[in-house]
Amino acid sequence: MEDKIKQLKEEALKAIGETQTIASLDEARIKYAGKKSDLQELLKSLGSAAPEERPKLGALVNEAKTAIELALSGRKAALQKSEQTKKIAAEKVDITMPGKGIRRGHIHPLTQVMEEAKAIFIRMGFEIAEGPEVETDYYNFDGLNIPPHHPSRDMWSTLFIKDDILLRTHTSPVQIRVMEKKKPPLAIIAPGRVYRRDSDASHSPIFQQLEGFLVNKQVTFGDLKGTLTEFLRQMFGKDKNVRFRPSFFPFTEPSAEADVECVMCKGKGCRLCKDTGWIEILGSGMIDPNVFKAVGYDPEKYSGFAFGMGIDRITMLKYGIDNIRLLYENDVRFLEQF
Ligand code: DAH
Repeated sequence: MEDKIKQLKEEALKAIGETQTIASLDEARIKYAGKKSDLQELLKSLGSAAPEERPKLGALVNEAKTAIELALSGRKAALQKSEQTKKIAAEKVDITMPGKGIRRGHIHPLTQVMEEAKAIFIRMGFEIAEGPEVETDYYNFDGLNIPPHHPSRDMWSTLFIKDDILLRTHTSPVQIRVMEKKKPPLAIIAPGRVYRRDSDASHSPIFQQLEGFLVNKQVTFGDLKGTLTEFLRQMFGKDKNVRFRPSFFPFTEPSAEADVECVMCKGKGCRLCKDTGWIEILGSGMIDPNVFKAVGYDPEKYSGFAFGMGIDRITMLKYGIDNIRLLYENDVRFLEQF
């Protein structure tokens, strides 16, 4: 009996020591310390031993039990520790590995140029105003001295929504909206989207304009020339020549178009400027007395100048972009270059 106890104990301790996982340790616990273990059976059979042997045998069994339990808990702690070490090793992050780059966005070239143009006028004291893109024909035409059925309406390929509702063809209606509400002196710029039934390499049905106007007592054509020359030089380069050519717009009299020295050939003549050496940038003029009358200003008391330019065109010239579509397709490979 004594030998059997010793042998069982040795066997149990050996098996426990050899377990490699918590699961196999659990199996060993059931086998050597569970309710149906051999040791438990031995304990039960103690009753059949000689009475004088019993205390000694009982003590031996208990000693074996304690030793096995101690071994079990010791082994459990050891296994838990090594499993944790393995887990940590498996989950280790290599902080020296290169990261995944985040693709950075940036401001669209049209927005960049618009912001640049706005900033130049804001430095000169102009304030920003805005108007709706869906307009009435009154603000888009009549108020600007373009009466119904007048052939000058043909200057704008208009997209109508209803008879008298349209998508604004230019930002000039903002002139009327602002002057109806405010009294001079005024120095306003109106940036925004405009729409025309037009589509080729240099025309898009949707594009951006920057409108401007200044009204006060005794504003002269000299003020117009000085302001716009300064703008064009800040936009295209201090060294650039600027010229004004007579033109016609229903809402200005006299009217002028402003050209800047060709950005590509510097005035020598090339394909871009059609060998003229000049690039047309904007329309302008002295505000027509009929426009002042439409908003209730006295044309004898006030005078002013106005101008309008296409931001898409300026962007294309500045960056050498030859198709306006590129500005609206939003292909990142294109946009990334600016
Ligand atoms: N609204 C004109 C256009 O879209 C541009 C323009 C020309 C605006 C002369 C003006 C101006 O304010 O005075 O074609």
